[in-house]
Amino acid sequence: MQNFVFHNPTKVAFGKGSIAKIPKLMPKSKVMLMYGGGSIKKNGIYDQVIEQLRDYEYCEFSGVEANPEFNTLCKAIELAKDEKVNFILAVGGGSVVDGAKFVAASVEFEGDPWDILAKGARVKSAIPLGCILTLPATGTETNANSVVNHSEKGKKLAFASEHVRPQFAILDPEVTYSLPDRQLSNGIVDAFVHVIEQYLTYPVNATVQDRFAEGILLNLIDIGPQVLSNKDYEVRANLMWNATQALSGLIGVGVPQDWSTHTIGHELTALYGLDHAVTLAIILPRLMHHQREQKREKLLQYAERVWGLSRYDEDSAIDLAIEKTELFFRDMGINTKLSEHGIDESVAEKVQGKLEDNGFMKMGEHQDITPKHAREIVMGSM
Ligand code: NZQ
Ligand code: ZN
Repeated sequence: MQNFVFHNPTKVAFGKGSIAKIPKLMPKSKVMLMYGGGSIKKNGIYDQVIEQLRDYEYCEFSGVEANPEFNTLCKAIELAKDEKVNFILAVGGGSVVDGAKFVAASVEFEGDPWDILAKGARVKSAIPLGCILTLPATGTETNANSVVNHSEKGKKLAFASEHVRPQFAILDPEVTYSLPDRQLSNGIVDAFVHVIEQYLTYPVNATVQDRFAEGILLNLIDIGPQVLSNKDYEVRANLMWNATQALSGLIGVGVPQDWSTHTIGHELTALYGLDHAVTLAIILPRLMHHQREQKREKLLQYAERVWGLSRYDEDSAIDLAIEKTELFFRDMGINTKLSEHGIDESVAEKVQGKLEDNGFMKMGEHQDITPKHAREIVMGSM
């Protein structure tokens, strides 16, 4: 196992009724309430939150899009500065929480906030933030990452800073009842691929991380079909906590990580606006084939422990494990081929060019996946 420091200070309030804990969790401050396109008004979450803000001074910023837009977030930065807010409360899915993280960092940033994303400029401080997560998927609720889209520039870029890790995350599984199947499927697949990016590399004898990762994968395979067919509280609770743990940092300590599926997938979202999880479901199966020699030992472990494929010869076990992974995504209602999304073969060259533009010249746990390889992987995903 590799050396590591682990510290995840986000306080989690989990369970039905947890929104009522806002006054206990959030310091008395001038708050900016941030949310998305209005789902929280339709499902009653907004009213629940406003009730808890009665003793706070607050302003509101709404309209953060799915794949949060840089230009929209710039307006939120202005509002936060004008109103002199000193706490941000994000209520929504990954896009709203990521957007809030970017605003929190940008308000205190000297210079052009775009540099945080495009040049990796260091974030030295940020307004503190907390979140009420309404879509279990990204893990952003307890992690230090944020992804922002700039559609005019055709770029979707990420940054990470401990300063934007939420101080608290309120996770009430009941808020997921209003999610359409498309977003539930996205959540399952995104969380699944988060685990894979931290697990399917090469063995370093990290037994806790491996067994936790395999446990989450098995849970997601189990929960996936159930979540689409009913609104059972226990299923939703398990979906939520599995998705959080998939990217809270816990399973990623002391192990090599990949993240090439995400890096390539972000380019597909930037180019075609595909949902984040859809891009992952398209890329991952082909990337597994492409990297089957580098990932061989872990692929065999995955085949045996996650899909129970111990009685096959090695190559058949790997083939079947990849096939089952893709079938699982398809069973979740996600089309795993680019052509099924009306995208033609010119995509491969475009993705290669964008990866080169953005400086992603070496990806994966061995830093041996180049933009040219990505082009082959994308071609394989037609
Ligand atoms: O905008 P509203 O009206 O709220 O509607 C949203 C949005 O249209 C809706 N929604 C959310 N909660 C709902 C709901 N509808 C009904 N009931 C509810 N309870 O769902 C739609 C999608 O929301 P979004 O926040 O975009 O989805 P998700 O949580 O999947 O977030 C995706 C974003 O997170 C980034 C992705 O790249 C993408 O930009 N990621 C962030 C990561 C991180 N910070 O660690 C890691 C991930 O790999 C990912 O890259
Ligand atoms: Zn993801």
